[in-house]
Amino acid sequence: MDINSKTGIFGIIGHPIGHSLSPLIHNNAFENLDFNSVYVSFDVKQEDLKDAIMGVKALGIKGLNVTVPHKESVIKYLDRISDEAKLIGAVNTIRNNAGLLEGYNTDVTGFMESLKEHNVDVEGKNAVILGAGGAAKAVATGLALLGAKSIYVCNRSIDKANELSIHIENNFNIKSRGIAYNDLNMLDEIDMLINATSVGMHPNVDVSPIEEDVVAKAKFVYDIIYNPEKTLFLSYAEKYQIRYINGLDMLVNQANDSFKIWTGVNFDKKIILNFLKKKDF
Ligand code: ATR
Repeated sequence: MDINSKTGIFGIIGHPIGHSLSPLIHNNAFENLDFNSVYVSFDVKQEDLKDAIMGVKALGIKGLNVTVPHKESVIKYLDRISDEAKLIGAVNTIRNNAGLLEGYNTDVTGFMESLKEHNVDVEGKNAVILGAGGAAKAVATGLALLGAKSIYVCNRSIDKANELSIHIENNFNIKSRGIAYNDLNMLDEIDMLINATSVGMHPNVDVSPIEEDVVAKAKFVYDIIYNPEKTLFLSYAEKYQIRYINGLDMLVNQANDSFKIWTGVNFDKKIILNFLKKKDF
């Protein structure tokens, strides 16, 4: 594709930004669909966030993804916020709609779609989420929207676990409790076990957030990590023949949801997945 005076600019802002796969995904999608657009990464420090967002308006940048540490602090600079983004208090996608900046959260919708695609039924299920950060919040919101019966939030810092479970109970009609890692031993059975911590992510691949005897109690296991494709945590699930999925589908679905918000069309998820699998990320 030639870059010319009509080329649309999209991008991602965060700090640091070096390891994001979003430029690869979106540029590949633009190319496949023959769209005259490019997607670049912008390393934006906290103190420059306001200027960066004003720059989006001034330069007519068409859309942005937002990542750590700006997902929450960006909200005050936007003109409209979607329901999901309001619910979790975080934005990962901005659309420049003729000068009005709209904030969305496709981490939540991308997570929900990944479960639907794998025919995982959440209705009435008990879930345990490991972690209580931004990713865990998106996961908890997605599970609650899909009708989970109860959610245990297990985190190293119990204060953060309690904070997230209170947020869930306040926004949905379901039970939620913050628990410590030691408390996991007391649970007999876990319908859904989801790792939303960064433990096991490349390059520290020889660690799991929990021991294999706890994983063995689960009926379904999900790791939102996609690099490596099979974490040590997921290898425990495999050992006990428990159904599991990794974070690649959530990544591709959240990217596709952002793409649809910006362009009005879906990209071909299979092509993007195959493209990513061939890359050494
Ligand atoms: P993200 O946006 O990816 O969720 P985050 O908000 O920084 O990032 O959250 C990281 C999560 O991984 C937190 O739940 C964190 O636990 P703490 O709140 O106790 O810090 C969890 N985490 C990171 N490293 C961990 C480790 N070595 N052991 C257990 N939990 C860890």
